[in-house]
Formats: sequence, C-alpha cells, structure tokens
Amino acid sequence: MFFSQKAFAALIALAYIGCVLCHPAVASYQVFETVKAVPSGWRVQNDLDVNRTSPMQIRMHLKQQNVVEFEQSVYDMSTPGHSTYGAHMTQNAINDFLQPAEETTKSVMAWLAGAGLQSNSLLEQDWVHINATVSDVESLLDAQYHYFQNAETNITVLRTLKYGLPISLHEHIDMVHPTSYFPGRTLVKPLISDHKESLEASRRRHLQYARSFPSGLDVASCNITVTPDCVKALYGFKDFHPSQGHGNKFAVAGYLQEYVQDNDLEAFLNIYDVEANTTGYEFISVNGGLNTQYWGKDTVESAIDLQYGISLNYPTPVSYYQTAGSPPINYDVDTTTDNSEPYLEWLTYMLALNDSMLPQVVSTSYADDEQTVPEAYARTVCNLFAQLAARGVSALFATGDAGPGGACISNDGTNTTRFIPTFPASCPFVTAVGATQHVKPEIGVSFSGGGFSNYFSRPAYQEAAVSSYLRKHGDTWAPYFNSSGRAYPDVSAQGTNVSIIYWGGHRYEAGTSCSTPIFASVISLLNSERLSKGKRPLGFLNPWLYSEAGGGLQDIISGRSAGCSGWTTTPGAVIDGAGWDAVVGWDPATGLGTPKFKELLDYI
Ligand SMILES: *[C@@H]1O[C@H](CO)[C@@H](O)[C@H](O)[C@H]1NC(C)=O
Ligand SMILES: *[C@@H]1O[C@H](CO)[C@@H](O)[C@H](O)[C@H]1NC(C)=O
Ligand SMILES: *[C@@H]1O[C@H](CO)[C@@H](O)[C@H](O)[C@H]1NC(C)=O
Ligand SMILES: *[C@@H]1O[C@H](CO)[C@@H](O)[C@H](O)[C@H]1NC(C)=O
Ligand SMILES: *[C@@H]1O[C@H](CO)[C@@H](O)[C@H](O)[C@H]1NC(C)=O
Ligand SMILES: *[C@@H]1O[C@H](CO)[C@@H](O)[C@H](O)[C@H]1NC(C)=O
Ligand SMILES: *[C@@H]1O[C@H](CO)[C@@H](O)[C@H](O)[C@H]1NC(C)=O
Ligand SMILES: *[C@@H]1O[C@H](CO)[C@@H](O)[C@H](O)[C@H]1NC(C)=O
Ligand SMILES: *[C@@H]1O[C@H](CO)[C@@H](O)[C@H](O)[C@H]1NC(C)=O
Repeated sequence: MFFSQKAFAALIALAYIGCVLCHPAVASYQVFETVKAVPSGWRVQNDLDVNRTSPMQIRMHLKQQNVVEFEQSVYDMSTPGHSTYGAHMTQNAINDFLQPAEETTKSVMAWLAGAGLQSNSLLEQDWVHINATVSDVESLLDAQYHYFQNAETNITVLRTLKYGLPISLHEHIDMVHPTSYFPGRTLVKPLISDHKESLEASRRRHLQYARSFPSGLDVASCNITVTPDCVKALYGFKDFHPSQGHGNKFAVAGYLQEYVQDNDLEAFLNIYDVEANTTGYEFISVNGGLNTQYWGKDTVESAIDLQYGISLNYPTPVSYYQTAGSPPINYDVDTTTDNSEPYLEWLTYMLALNDSMLPQVVSTSYADDEQTVPEAYARTVCNLFAQLAARGVSALFATGDAGPGGACISNDGTNTTRFIPTFPASCPFVTAVGATQHVKPEIGVSFSGGGFSNYFSRPAYQEAAVSSYLRKHGDTWAPYFNSSGRAYPDVSAQGTNVSIIYWGGHRYEAGTSCSTPIFASVISLLNSERLSKGKRPLGFLNPWLYSEAGGGLQDIISGRSAGCSGWTTTPGAVIDGAGWDAVVGWDPATGLGTPKFKELLDYI
C-alpha cells in the first residue's frame, strides 16, 4: 500500500493531534474485491499511460440498514391479496427505511477526511461521491488502475483488477465504483437478417402481404413475419385502446452503444400504418447520453424498442432514456470520467424523479454474464431495482440470446464447465423476458436465455413453480447449474422474424430484445386500464405473475433453448446438447409463458 503525498501528509498531521483515524487498524488494508483475470473480450492497454494527476470521480455505496425487511416489504406490496398490495412508497420513505447507520457514515467520512478528501466528498443518503485524482484514488483504495479496451466495441475504460479498504470499513461499504466492473461485455445484440430490402420494396411487399389476410393481419401472419398488427392479434389486444390522461407512461432504457434513429422510426410507423409519428416519443438524456441519430448497427436495439414500443402503446407517451455511452466513433481515451457504466447513473436518475415523472413500465434489453459483474456491484444494482419496484415501476429485462450460456466456463480461476446466467435478469426484482417463435403452436426458441443465478437465491414468489419444475426435470443438467438460485425467465414473447426498419431498409430481427418491449407493452396497456379506474399501476410484477396472473398466461410447452455449444475456444466449455425444454408449467426456456391480454384484464 502507498499513499499519495497529500494523503500521507494528512495522516501524519492527524497523527500529531492524536485522532482516532491514526489507530493502526485504519491503515491496515485488506483486499475488498479481486477479479482473477482480465475478463475475456477485454485487454489491458499497457501502452496507454494513465495520467495519474487527471481528475477522477468515484462513488461508494454504504451499507444500508433494514435491507432484508425492505425487500420483504417490496414483495408484500407487490403480492395480490396482501394487506399492503399496491402501497408503493415515496423515495423519502424508502431512504428513511434504508438509511445507513450513523456509525457507517461517520467512519467512512472520517476515513475520507483523514485522506485529505473531505472537501471533495459528498454524502448523499447511501452514496458517497468523491472527486479526486487517479493517484488519490489509487492510494485510497490501495489499487492500481489501467486502461482496458473491449475488443468488440473498442470501448476503453479505466479499471483496477483489485482494490482494498481498511479492514474496519469492510462492514460499512458495499462497493466502490469504478473499480472492477467491466461494463456491457454482452449487450443483448439482436440478430438481424443480412438481406436488406429497400423502403419502397418493403412497403409494396407489406401491402401485398396484408391483402392476403382479408380481415387484417391476424395470428397466422405471425408465423411468417412478426408485425405490430400480428402481435396485437396474437396476444389479444387488437381492439384495445389505452385510455389517456391518467399519467400512464411507457419507457425504454438505452445504454452505451444503443442510439435512436428517427428516420427509421418514421419509415416504420409509415409502412405499418401506425397513427403515431416521431413526435410520439420523448428523448431523455441521462448523464450526458447522446442523441447521435447515428445510422449503423448500434441502432438495432432502439429500432425494435421504439418501433414496437410506440406502435403497440399508441397513444400512450413513450420515453427513451439514453444513459451516457460514447458514440462508436472518436472515443476519447484521455477521459478518466466513467461514462460507460450502464445502471448506477440511470437508476440514480430514475429514483430521483417524482411520481408524476416516473414511467410505470421500463423495457431494457441489456444483459451481462452474471459472473463478469462483481457480486457486490450486482447486489447494489439489484437493491436499486428493488427501490424502483417500491416506487411502483415494472422493470423488464431481456434474458440474453445464448440459451443456458454462451461461453460455459467459470471465470473464478477454476475454469469449471457451467451454464452461465445473465444479469440483471437474475436479479429477483426485475421481470426477465425470454423468447418464443411460431404460432399454433407458439414454441420456445433456441437462443432464449434462461437459467439459475449464482448470486441471488430463489425468491418465495417462484418457489412453488420452480421447485415443481426441478422435481420433474431438475436432474438433467444438475452439475451445470445452481438449483437454489433465482430462476428466469419469468415470462416470454415472440422473438424471431420480427420486422423492423433499420438503416433505411426492412430487416428481420431476432432476440430476446424483441420479446422484452412486446411483453412490456402488454403490461403498459394493463396499467392504462388500472390507472383509468383510479387504481395503482401493477408495479413489480413477479409475485402477481406467479400467482393471480397465471391464468392470463399461455403456457408454452414445446420448443427448446440451446447453448454451451463452443462459442468459445476455451477447452471444456462445450456441453453436448445443453439446453432447456419448454414443458408444462414454468421452465427455464420460456418461463410462465406468453400474455393473453383479455384474460389478464380480468386479473387486474
Ligand atoms: C495530466 O492531467 C493534468 C490534469 O488534467 C494535466 O494538467 C496534465 O497536462 C496531464 N498530463 C499529461 C502528460 O497529459
Ligand atoms: C465533482 O465535480 C463535479 C464537476 O465539476 C461537480 O459537479 C460535483 O459537484 C463534484 N462533486 C463533489 C463531491 O465534489
Ligand atoms: C475498433 O477499432 C478497430 C481498429 O481501429 C477498427 O477496425 C474497428 O472497426 C473498430 N470497431 C468499432 C466497433 O468501432
Ligand atoms: C407455423 O409454423 C410452424 C413451423 O413451420 C408450423 O409447425 C405451424 O403449424 C405453423 N402454424 C400455422 C398457424 O400455420
Ligand atoms: C405528429 O402527431 C401529433 C399528434 O399525435 C400531431 O399533433 C403532429 O402534427 C404530428 N406531426 C407530424 C409531423 O405529422
Ligand atoms: C415533478 O418534477 C417535475 C420536473 O422536475 C416538475 O416539473 C413537477 O412540478 C414535479 N411535480 C410534483 C407533483 O412535484
Ligand atoms: C483457465 O483457462 C485460462 C485460459 O485458457 C488459462 O490461462 C488458465 O491457466 C486456466 N486455469 C486452470 C486452473 O486451468
Ligand atoms: C448457488 O447459489 C447460492 C444462492 O442461491 C449461492 O449462495 C452459492 O454461492 C451459489 N453456488 C455457486 C457454486 O455459485
Ligand atoms: C423465420 O424464422 C425461421 C426460424 O425460426 C427461419 O428459418 C426463417 O428463415 C425466418 N423467416 C424469415 C422471413 O426470416
């Protein structure tokens, strides 16, 4: 361990006035978190010198009180029939509930004062924000930062593979960021067809196609290509018109490397004859999020989210939250300000909104391999999702497009062959959406991500459904997954052959990123009905989905997911035949099933 001169001088000065900080225990550091190796896909940039005098901002999450009680109260307020059902909380009430102990804030602030960082540190509830230099941070955390670059995206981040904290503070701090979380290694990148059809050709083809269904695009048409009309017919909301004026809002969250493209959106709304136009959504920049209108592969995600989000929900207002992220061009490596972190900035922003600004449903197509997300970081983010749940927001996440796992090998240094779950789908406070295909029957699709968390244990709301699955089918891949973990997906929706307009032409898109905005839209429509009746929005969905809403879901009982097929060159990572069958009841391929809107209306 070493101290910057400034911090060292501060410690010496304090030593003379005999403060408690100079107790040897404070100076005695212990490693707080270690990443065994540079995560695959990233490489350390030894040739790129870190300017240790440049400014660096970090944030620390302090241990909260009453976390278990808080989470239980979130489950309760989301469970139909419970006396607190629908009793969502204000952020002030949440903050009071979770307020860190005085001893926690005092010890941490005293430590920062001792390091000479008092005037640059700001305590906000359970967070401490610190402005320092790279060298200050390295001393404070007994860490060594390097630049790392992602091979696929070229994103460069400043990270450390290891950091420490004074032993006496381990019990007071949950995590420090940025340290060892490497963001967005596995964006849910949907697959898109190579064939691009011109706008004119796709307009003509669509009109001709529509004529072959004289009474309008219906369920059967979904078998050929998924369009807004077929989705409405398939899930039963063709004739439903969401009521307006009750503050209902649908939102999409976009993170790094996902950008909106209005020309494509407009062409889509035009071809598919949706009344809405591009004024149909509001672009909201979080923490400097960019509206590049870039035309390229980084707009696939927003294409599906906005084109379907707007079409299925019209006239419900749609918001697109763009959190930071750098454009794919001209990445500025000199920066030591972290602008590639997907969740913390966005969640902080959302939780600070008042009730009238907060959307009731947020769809997000973003997934990391759980094991690449440091556990402390994952727990902190998951707790913030629980807070969003307590505010009455339904957060839906795609499960990823690799079935039970892509590169099925552990990164804990043992190279164990295992299924690899994804995060945030594995957080028990989000609703995880997998994918289906075809109609009559609608079946599971090979890429639909699903499995069992290694971080979060199985929540009570899914105990009956998942243990029933495990009793009947749990032996098949027993060595490869953690049967005590939170199981996902929770639900599913169509995810192949989805028509989008992308980069000035028509393409087919496939992925759980298609399924997520579709299922989320159904929830938003249900909310419009609830709000128009003066009821609370559905809020956190899972306890409802696994109980009352069950009769409003179509159980998917055939099809199969697949993965672990050697997407990696690492020996031992191939698991022959790995995948999950869609079976009667909940399963890790399609969850509880797909929505039946008319029936769901009966369950709200
Ligand atoms: C390092 O950063 C500081 C502060 O931003 C700046 O003044 C200095 O010129 C930088 N040094 C180099 C070598 O770029
Ligand atoms: C850190 O610096 C930023 C930018 O100058 C400023 O907005 C913020 O308030 C500062 N935070 C603290 C904790 O000093
Ligand atoms: C990453 O950088 C390489 C080399 O400069 C370039 O060929 C490639 O196109 C870049 N990839 C992206 C996604 O920007
Ligand atoms: C949809 O396509 C699948 C697979 O080709 C087929 O099994 C099913 O019968 C088709 N459904 C309809 C309604 O045509
Ligand atoms: C877009 O739609 C809104 C109402 O939904 C309408 O007021 C506006 O005129 C439309 N703009 C264009 C350019 O068509
Ligand atoms: C909510 O926040 C918005 C934006 O900050 C503000 O315009 C509005 O007045 C606030 N509403 C209430 C009820 O406080
Ligand atoms: C795990 O795999 C990595 C990469 O192939 C290799 O460098 C390492 O030695 C392996 N570790 C063990 C314990 O086999
Ligand atoms: C299995 O999941 C539990 C949480 O349910 C966790 O405590 C345990 O460490 C996990 N085991 C492995 C091998 O990851
Ligand atoms: C529809 O999806 C199936 C796989 O489910 C694929 O074989 C077929 O080519 C797709 N059709 C189109 C038009 O992309």
